[in-house]
Amino acid sequence: MHQNEKVINKKTVDNLILYRKSIDYLKSVEFFKAVKSFRNSLIKRLRTMKICNFAHRNINSRKMEQIIPIASDHGGFEMKQFLIEKLEEAGYKVKDYGTHSNESVDYPDMIHPLASAIEKGEYPLGIILCGSGNGAQMTANHHHHVRAALCWNVELAKLARQHNDANILALPGRFIPNELAWEMVQAFLHTDFEGGRHTRRVEKIEPVENHDDE
Ligand code: RB5
Repeated sequence: MHQNEKVINKKTVDNLILYRKSIDYLKSVEFFKAVKSFRNSLIKRLRTMKICNFAHRNINSRKMEQIIPIASDHGGFEMKQFLIEKLEEAGYKVKDYGTHSNESVDYPDMIHPLASAIEKGEYPLGIILCGSGNGAQMTANHHHHVRAALCWNVELAKLARQHNDANILALPGRFIPNELAWEMVQAFLHTDFEGGRHTRRVEKIEPVENHDDE
């Protein structure tokens, strides 16, 4: 037998073994798990990119005319009207998602539309209110990419941006003075996310179903 023929045969056999192994691997549970884990990490990456886009838009839009979406139920109505006036005086444009009177309403009816707009990236930051701030915050946090922070003072409003990259400020309309609420809104709008170690933590805030296979 010619020397070359031997080499070719050995190569062919090696390739066949490799081919067989590949087929077995493609049929294996390990391969299935690897694909699933790749899919999950890809989803995470895409979500992270979206977080980055929000942050980027936030910095740019602050230099231009920033539109601030705001929503409340009847418990936050008067404070909302006060904040709208202050925001407009300060040069912001405001998108008012209601409510439009003191008449009793259900806070999710106003909060969900605002939170959906934040989720879609229509606005970088928003403000929501109800009597205690709890119902508004709970409703907003059911949306992907929404991080609503219920705050009671200026320092908490700043920390929500610095450490949690909060994109919605939730205020307890019946429990704090209007002037304090305005100070908190300004602190929230003018404070940047610090990034660094906080990025990893914020990325881990994911709906539970995304952690199932890890
Ligand atoms: C309305 O009375 C009140 O329940 C609401 O504004 C809010 O505090 C709910 O969390």
